[in-house]
Amino acid sequence: MRILGIETSCDETAAAIVERDEQGKGHILSNVVLSQIAEHEPYGGVVPEIAARAHVEALDGLVRRALEQANLTLDDVDGIAATAGPGLIGGLIVGLMTAKALAMAAKKPFYAINHLEGHALTARLTDNLDFPYLLLLVSGGHTQMVLVRGLGQYERLGTTIDDALGEAFDKTAKLLGLPYPGGPAVEAMAKKGDPTRFALPRPLKGEKRLDFSFSGLKTAVRQTASELVPLSDQDVADICASFQEAVADTLRDRVGRSLDRFSAEFPDCPTPALIVAGGVAANKTLRAALEELCAKRGFRFIAPPLNLCTDNAAMIAWAGAERAGSSEPDPLSLAPRSRWPL
Ligand code: KG4
Ligand code: ZN
Repeated sequence: MRILGIETSCDETAAAIVERDEQGKGHILSNVVLSQIAEHEPYGGVVPEIAARAHVEALDGLVRRALEQANLTLDDVDGIAATAGPGLIGGLIVGLMTAKALAMAAKKPFYAINHLEGHALTARLTDNLDFPYLLLLVSGGHTQMVLVRGLGQYERLGTTIDDALGEAFDKTAKLLGLPYPGGPAVEAMAKKGDPTRFALPRPLKGEKRLDFSFSGLKTAVRQTASELVPLSDQDVADICASFQEAVADTLRDRVGRSLDRFSAEFPDCPTPALIVAGGVAANKTLRAALEELCAKRGFRFIAPPLNLCTDNAAMIAWAGAERAGSSEPDPLSLAPRSRWPL
């Protein structure tokens, strides 16, 4: 079973071909991604109109490259999967219309994939993981803790009540005059800083609910920075390090509670696991904090390779391949959804 996947929900245009073998194992035959960071950089964030136009320009070529790299033609694939939401509506329309047109022309089944389901199933592609497991998705647009019970069975245990975690990194960077995207810039500065210099808040720490909150942290950064103006490089580094430490500490608490919840529901699960996905999962300090937490609690910690952690089409193709094994294709009349909770 080979599926062509298409992803256009945000600022990455991507196409990939993934094979699911008879044992249910996944193989990536090609995986091409074109990032639009340079186009959005002058604006300090993703501009939906620019993103949609860039998807239109790039997508045909990327699909062709994905087929070429896999040494296949459209006739050789068994289905076409595309992200149908959630995301920026202009981009979703581009990807979905392209997938439908290809499916119609080549007479192949069409699968409309929830982008979050793509992230949720990636660990089954990379690590052949069995259900159930926990997924922490932390990107520029999403911050969610999801209990993945089985294919199509996802329970959102917690989400952010304000900013996404990646957004908090991006806004913190902007406040401090660092470039976009903010996450890598904040992480690089934090390396040179003192994480104990500023006592920043740990939002929702100790609360029973499994949600996240990051806007208070960003406000505290603004307050701290405004009291130091003009900021020296060392001030910026110390704020970044203190911010990152506050995030790590918050995640230990919030994620720890979800691990407890999982253990209570699945006391006999032989290999409980936490998967992280999303761009923020690139952060080494946060990864180390989560890895240590998991080790203490007897959970496997799985962080898929970075190119499969961030937005890509292999995860969409894989979700299509898993769906193809168990459910009917979607009708070509299916509409994209900018909001589509799991
Ligand atoms: O998953 P992603 O590439 O795109 C979506 O948002 O869908 O995530 C991008 C986000 C941005 O907010 C970026 O600042 C953040 O991930 N990010 C990081 C790091 N690298 C990327 N945040 C913290 N530390 C990093 N090293
Ligand atoms: Zn994503």
